[in-house]
Formats: sequence, structure tokens, C-alpha cells
Amino acid sequence: MLGVCYYPEHWGVEKVEEDFKKMKELGIEYVRIGEFAWSRIEPERGKFTWGWLDKTLEAAERLGLKIILGTPTATPPKWLVDEHPEILPVDKHGRVKNFGSRRHYCFSSPVYREEVKRIVSIVAERYGKHPVVVGWQTDNEYGCHDTVRCYCPRCKKAFQKWLERKYGGDIERLNKAWGTAFWSQEYRSFDEIELPNLTPADPNPSHLLDYYRFASDQVVEFNRLQVQIIREYSPGRFVTHNFMSGFTDFDHYKLSRDLDFASWDNYPLGHTLVFLRNKGEHQNPFDRVGHPDIISFSHDLYRGVGKGRFWVMEQQAGPVNWAPYNLWPAKGAVRLWTWQALAHGAEVVSYFRWRQAPFAQEQMHSGLLAPDSSPSQGYQEVKQVFEELKGVDLNKAVKSEVALVFDYETAWVFSIQPHGEGVNYLDLVFRFYSALRRLGLNVDVIPPESSLDGYRIVVVPSLAIVKEEVLENFKKYNGVLVFGPRSGSKTGTFQIPEEMPPGLLKELIPVEVKQVESLGLKNVETLLWKGKEYPVTIWREDVDPTITEVVAKFKDEYGAMFQKENVFYLAFWPDREFLIDFFEELAKEIGLTVKRFPEGVRIQRRGDVVFAFNFTPEEIEVEIPEESQIILGSHKLQPYSLAIWKEKKR
Ligand code: GAL
Ligand code: ZN
Repeated sequence: MLGVCYYPEHWGVEKVEEDFKKMKELGIEYVRIGEFAWSRIEPERGKFTWGWLDKTLEAAERLGLKIILGTPTATPPKWLVDEHPEILPVDKHGRVKNFGSRRHYCFSSPVYREEVKRIVSIVAERYGKHPVVVGWQTDNEYGCHDTVRCYCPRCKKAFQKWLERKYGGDIERLNKAWGTAFWSQEYRSFDEIELPNLTPADPNPSHLLDYYRFASDQVVEFNRLQVQIIREYSPGRFVTHNFMSGFTDFDHYKLSRDLDFASWDNYPLGHTLVFLRNKGEHQNPFDRVGHPDIISFSHDLYRGVGKGRFWVMEQQAGPVNWAPYNLWPAKGAVRLWTWQALAHGAEVVSYFRWRQAPFAQEQMHSGLLAPDSSPSQGYQEVKQVFEELKGVDLNKAVKSEVALVFDYETAWVFSIQPHGEGVNYLDLVFRFYSALRRLGLNVDVIPPESSLDGYRIVVVPSLAIVKEEVLENFKKYNGVLVFGPRSGSKTGTFQIPEEMPPGLLKELIPVEVKQVESLGLKNVETLLWKGKEYPVTIWREDVDPTITEVVAKFKDEYGAMFQKENVFYLAFWPDREFLIDFFEELAKEIGLTVKRFPEGVRIQRRGDVVFAFNFTPEEIEVEIPEESQIILGSHKLQPYSLAIWKEKKR
């Protein structure tokens, strides 16, 4: 259940055998290779050098390692770019991005798509049935380095076609949907439509939203091309893609329908730092280990994206090179992250990377081995995990009583018209998620149209656009439903709904948003709930209080939270402390067991196996029910460490 990312093309085939032996000793079972190796596979058009890859696979076979082959499409080689410079992407300032790093291609480029089909077919045909090839990774981190949205002439054409299909060839429908009467934006035909960049003032939000949807669809199509070919040549092998943390530029649920499961790349230190800075916070108490909830949110999301199955394809194993600053992880962190991933349901945790490269862009990025092959701190911890793994049964599925609805379109709506600083969908989602986790609840992260059967509470931090079928889904559900601000605030084409927000959701909870305000980060309003006061910043809504029950108010008398039977509407950007209190109370009311753990301690359940994680530098005691069977650690959680026990019965 452990793996590693490896680059035979960096070390020469002579080293492979020795490296594989060492991996085996360390307990590595899976090795991902090949995802950037196009120039080594095909140094010139039609000329292939297979020796190094053949030998790599032979060595894996001899030593009993399993291979995940990456398609090399994230890095088209120089000869291809020179032949077809039009495959290069264009940024939103209209500048062509150059050769010399990676991801230098446009998803819409017809020429590039043909080249992708060609190279994927050749590689898949050659190795698709090789006994050590157990699966495939398509490309690498779609969208990394801001590459989903391209502004080249090919994209413009493809976008026009996409719009023509969407609006049934009727330009008047588009004019209406986009409200182009405003500022003389009216179009007479689809081929008049530009890409939404380089405008003096903000582009039309409906135009942007359609463009974001289009760009997302291009990624989905691009991936599908590859999957179809791999399935043809490599029957019985899995196909996955390595997604990123906190990345919303394309719809991951949609793309993942073509995959067997999801995987993602887990870099806790950098992700935590970047997330906090985006929120304007420069204090980071988790700087050497990462915030437990920022990490596990992605585990829970990708379990949902992967329809119940996911891997960590790249796991940080030491300091990285790309964050605002790059600390080495605390002693124990690599082991902690590995166990955390497994507790949330990861089937495999694969470390990035085997050996630090002494050359090129990532020479300051650590690996399990230093450039001279001496083992790092991370290496020692992997060794420990491998030993510990032998005693733990990880066959049980993760089951959650709470679901959180996460929606890519909502992320796009918030980013297109945030309406105020600090308005960020991921921040809002994180507040809800982190509050639930603080109470020891397992959480499933799901798309809005997913079945809600079996959940006791379904939390929707916000769902800007509510589709009919999603409304039906909510209507069928009879547990507790909690909606956050801006839910139902837009139509499918980015307009304010005729019936006023929350639009269709009014059928579930009769509230009406009269006006909204965004608050400066220093405009603090005070929320009153059950005799306590909570600060509210960023956002609030003025909801007509005469229609439904007001269950919380602001000090200045505006309504804050509304309830009808088991449906709640929160008309403000909730503070995490409030959410912890609120969910604790709610859970008690419906007889759901919750327990407040100290900050930095987290609980996760896989069947009857309970994991307790300590993300702090102090020893912390947790209560382990008496009849439990302790599998690892003890009730005294050591710094950056964990305990595992088997519960008798809950
Ligand atoms: C990932 C990427 C890897 C490597 C790594 C460094 O984004 O997939 O190829 O660059 O980051 O942390
Ligand atoms: Zn393009």
C-alpha cells in the first residue's frame, strides 16, 4: 500500500535495478514512472528509444514491483513545439507561454489532441498488457501553473462552437442569457464572440461563467481521449489522474467519471501556508506539519470524486521548493500524513520522490533519498510505517454520518463576482468542514446531485446555482439540511433569479434575500445565538424575517439564521467557532454522538477502527473506551503521532 514516484530517465538504467531493490526493502509496492518522459521516449518524430523503459519494466518484474505508467502529455518535446508552435497556450494577458518548463500546451488545440492520441496509443500499445503495468496516470496535475484557461485563437473558435451548441444556434437566446443589452454588448452571430480577457472593465459574468464551463469541458475531453485509448490497449488496468489540493478550475467530478478512481498530490506544508495566506492570515501554528483539516478535506473530497476510491499519488516526504517558504517537516510528520491518508480511505500512499534531483527546476525539492542516495528523515518514517502497517486491518470502508456538498460552479460564481474581499468559496467551505471535523465527525464530500441517503446531516456551505434535479434530490432527503449564504443566488446563466434568492430553494425554506452586503475584514458585526456572541465578517444578507422562523439574529436586529422544520438557512459568513457550537447542539438534538477534541487532535473512523492524530508538538491525552483493543500507540498521543484502536461497539 506504499508507493513512490520515480524517474529512471534522470538516473540512467544502470541505477534502476539497485534503486528497485532498495524500494522493495523499504516496503514499496507501486512505482509511478514516465509522466514527463516524452523526449526520452521519442527524441525525434517517429524515432523511439524504448530500451530504458523496457529494462525498467523488466527490473520491476524481476523484483516484484508494480508500475503505474504516466502518459507523457504534460511535456510535449521541443521538436513537436517547433513543428507546431500553435499548440502553445496563451495567458490572459495575451502572451504566448514558451517552451522550457512544463504544461506548455492548449487543451483545445486540434493538432495537439492528434499528437496526444498518437503518443498515448504508441505507449499504451507497447506496454498496455505488460504484466507489471497495473495502471495508468493520465498526464500530470491538469491545470497546475494556471493552465486550464487558455486565450489562444484555437480556444476562441472552440468556445464559439461550444456556445453555438449550448444555445441551440440561437444568438438571441445567448444575448438574453448574458444580458448583453447592458453596455451595448449585443452579438449578431456566434463568430462575433471573443474570449473574456483584455477588456478594460470586468467582462460580462455570464460570458465568464460559460467560458469557465467551456474550459473545464476541454480538460474533460482531453482526458477522455487518453482514457479511451488506454482502455483499448490496456484491458483490466486502472486509469487515474493525480489532482491537486484546493484547485477548482475544472469540474473534477465530471472528469473523474471517466476514471476508475481519483488520486491527488498531498503537500501539507505548502498547501496550508498558501491557504492561510489567501485568507490574509500570516500566523501558521501548523507550519511544520500542515493543518489537519486542510489536508483531510482533500482526502474526503477525492474519496467523493473517486466514487469511494482514491490514492495519494504524490505524498510530500520532506521539504519542497515551491511554497512561499519551505520548512522541513517536523519529525514524525511523514508518518502522520501517511496514516492520516489511510484513515480517510486512501488505498495507496505514494511518496514524491524517490531521490532528490541535483539538476534542473526541482533541485531544491527533497526526496526519500538525498542526491547522493543517503536516506532522509522521511525515508526512516516510511520504514516505520511499513512495519506498523502489518498489524492493521484497512479493509473497512469509511462511512460518514455527515455529508458536505462541494460544487465547482459555485467556486466559479464566487470568483467571478466575489462582491468583497475575503469572499472565497474554499474559505467558506473550510469553515464548515473544519467545524465538523473538530467535533470528531467523519465527513463525506459529495457533489450536489449525489444520493443523500443515510446521512444524518447534509451541509451545503453554498450552492450558488440550484438545478431542478438537485432541488428534487434535496426534497427527497429527510435528514437535517443546512444551507450557507449565497445559496440559490444565481440562475444557470449568472443572473439574479426572478423570484429573488435563494431561488428554487424557497421550496425548501421560505426565505427571501432582500439585499446583501460584503463587510470589510475590519467591519465586525455581532451575531447572537443561545446567549453567546460571535463575530461576523465578510458577508451578510438581509432576509425578510416575516416569512419563516428566525433562530438567530444580529445585535443590530437583522436576522441571521432561519429554520423551517429540518432545513436551516444561514444568511451570513459564519465564524468557525459559531459553527462548532451550532453543529454540536444540532448533533445532540438528533442523537448523533460528537465530541470536541483539542485543536490539533483529529479522529477518523474506518469501520470499527478508530484513528486519533496529534498534529501538535505536545503530548495530548485522549480517552479510549475501556473495552477497545489498542492496535498502535496509547491514550497518550505523542507529539506528531497517532493511536489506533478497535472499538467494541459504538
Ligand atoms: C507536483 C507535481 C510534481 C512535482 C511536485 C513538487 O505538483 O505533480 O511533478 O513538481 O509537485 O512538489
Ligand atoms: Zn488555447
